Amino acid sequence: MPMLASVAAESMARKVFSQCSVEESMACGIGVCMTCVLPVIGEDGITRMLRSCVDGPIFRGDRVRWSEIGTVPEGTWGSEALRS
Ligand code: FES
Repeated sequence: MPMLASVAAESMARKVFSQCSVEESMACGIGVCMTCVLPVIGEDGITRMLRSCVDGPIFRGDRVRWSEIGTVPEGTWGSEALRS
């Protein structure tokens, strides 16, 4: 994941499009257990927790919130901040 984050960052710095095949831990592999989720910014600018196994594993490098993987970042769809 750190290597993918670096590739995505370098691509963004060079204004080059990138796609990354993420390597999250997967327990079920069929979209049920939610162990493989990561924060990804959608076309509408809203971050959602997407499942690597069924929504990926390939994501645009500039859309993954790399430094916040393993968390539910502020502003994520369904998080407390958006409910209020
Ligand atoms: S591995 Fe279970 S939801 Fe992705």
